[in-house]
Amino acid sequence: MCGIFGCILKNGVAAPIVHAALKRLEYRGYDSVGEAAIYKNKLFIKKDQGKIDDVHAVHNLANIPGRIALGHTRWATHGAPSQVNAHPHMDCHKQIAVVHNGIIENFAEIQRELEELGHVFRSKTDTEVIPHLIEEELKDGLPLSEAVREAVKRLEGSYAVAIISVREPNKIVCARKESPLVAGVGEHGIYCASDIPAFLPLTNKAVIIEDGEIVVLADDRYEIRRISDGNPVLREPEVIDWTPEMAEKQGYPHFMLKEIHEQPLCLRNTLRLQEQYLDLMATFLERATEVYFVAAGTSYHACLAASYMFSKVALLATHPVIASEFIEQHGKAVNIDSTILAVSQSGETADTLAAVEWARQRAATILGLTNVVGSTLTRVARAYVCQQSGPEIGVAATKTFTSQLSVLSQLALNVAKRRGKISHTQIEDLEEKLQQIPDIVATILETQEAKIRQLAEKYKDKQCFFFLGRGISSATALESRLKLLEIAYVPSIAYPAGESKHGPISLIEPGFPVVFICPKDETRKTIMGNIMEMKARGASIIAILEEGDEETKKIVDDYIEIPTGFPEVLSPIPYVIPLQLFAYYMSVERNCDPDMPRNLAKSVTVK
Ligand code: G6P
Repeated sequence: MCGIFGCILKNGVAAPIVHAALKRLEYRGYDSVGEAAIYKNKLFIKKDQGKIDDVHAVHNLANIPGRIALGHTRWATHGAPSQVNAHPHMDCHKQIAVVHNGIIENFAEIQRELEELGHVFRSKTDTEVIPHLIEEELKDGLPLSEAVREAVKRLEGSYAVAIISVREPNKIVCARKESPLVAGVGEHGIYCASDIPAFLPLTNKAVIIEDGEIVVLADDRYEIRRISDGNPVLREPEVIDWTPEMAEKQGYPHFMLKEIHEQPLCLRNTLRLQEQYLDLMATFLERATEVYFVAAGTSYHACLAASYMFSKVALLATHPVIASEFIEQHGKAVNIDSTILAVSQSGETADTLAAVEWARQRAATILGLTNVVGSTLTRVARAYVCQQSGPEIGVAATKTFTSQLSVLSQLALNVAKRRGKISHTQIEDLEEKLQQIPDIVATILETQEAKIRQLAEKYKDKQCFFFLGRGISSATALESRLKLLEIAYVPSIAYPAGESKHGPISLIEPGFPVVFICPKDETRKTIMGNIMEMKARGASIIAILEEGDEETKKIVDDYIEIPTGFPEVLSPIPYVIPLQLFAYYMSVERNCDPDMPRNLAKSVTVK
């Protein structure tokens, strides 16, 4: 997600410090960059789309006067990357500058309200409502910090914001809900940032700002208050002994582990999608005669799971297709009545784009699901939605998979409502369960990680693994296999469990590890039969099962527990989590680098 930085220096010019801090935030990924500073009661802003060095070459980001400044690296979610959409954003009279990381869910409603009051909006971002809301509060004569407190109370969604204003030119006011925010207390100044690496070379004294808090930085002081009631909060800085490299990973040894742990937050963000985008996509899907889900790698596995979701919830048949096979397999059948939903984290995968181009030339409708607004996919698609999971640095996709699944299940539910094939109660139940998923994933991470680590120690020397599941869990099996294979270099096989009798079972000998994904769903009876078949041949069985499933626990060698009561169509999200962790710890046990597996690239832009 976006990176933010702010600084108040005791002496000197802040812009070069902000510029250097933004360079330290580069590792997070971004598409635009910007700075704001206050000097002699005037606000100076420089911002543009592009890499920091390129923007610097044109605008000289180190050359802005003033000892108080903000900086921002943007990762677009609302509004394509462009100069006008880059942060900082300002109010009508250019008195307030705001940088923001997060997603404001109710921005459209607030914007409408403010426009009626005469506010003029320049950008297509959700962020811009914030300076205008503060402007409105300042009209009532409130001090800046109170105006910010009142403004952020109106915001639904997630935010870390930093604000400066010529009205009180010696302050930075910050506030936080869900998105990370930290203050740094240094010898030469005081800082705020979205994460510690931004200011680590300047100070190692950090104050973590908690959810629902507002903090005012002024000269060398900071004052924290609760947003809800304005009551003060006392918190001393803590000394951070991380190296810059550790700080980028927020203390995790690898980006992959950090990203696995980010999933509760990412899933919350996916639930903040604007209904209008889902509606538009659903309209196209509902109308199509033939729907193809086209993707590569992990995104393909999300498509495969989605095909079960659409069939079971919306009673709509879809074709999940590996992008590189699409033209050969379905090319001739594509026409004006076809709809292609291309799923690509990067939006740049060459095979996916080639399939899209083929279909586009045949007048098919192109829809996109991607993480990168402004990517080629967003430019060629008739409509797209963003998976909102922020930059993923580990080559192995983790938060990508679960975020895509969450968006695809919302789409399936939207189509289901239109088609009216399942009852309102069923839809409401699924929607309620979807809302619970972020917490369930957090629980799995908290309670199962130590056990998974032990399993990796136990099984680290095995030469080959089977992953088996039935129904939608066969997509989970394929994705779990891919993770283990690509980062721990363990040759592995995944099959729909029913198919294992038609060949793969011949490999089984005593001690051969077989991972079963076995939620208590419609496939329960048959999967138990498959477990017994493997067990009879001496396989070591590891089951991902529901809490309290004593019957399965008794017959398997090892198990990981998932909270109970999950609807089948949503099960790949919680069930893949332990297997992402298993692959990660296997990779570490086998002395591999989980973040950068050999021969692989994050984005494959050649066919
Ligand atoms: C590469 C990456 C995978 C990814 C796949 C598709 O193989 O290593 O992690 O799943 O590309 O990428 P996309 O950006 O299209 O989702």
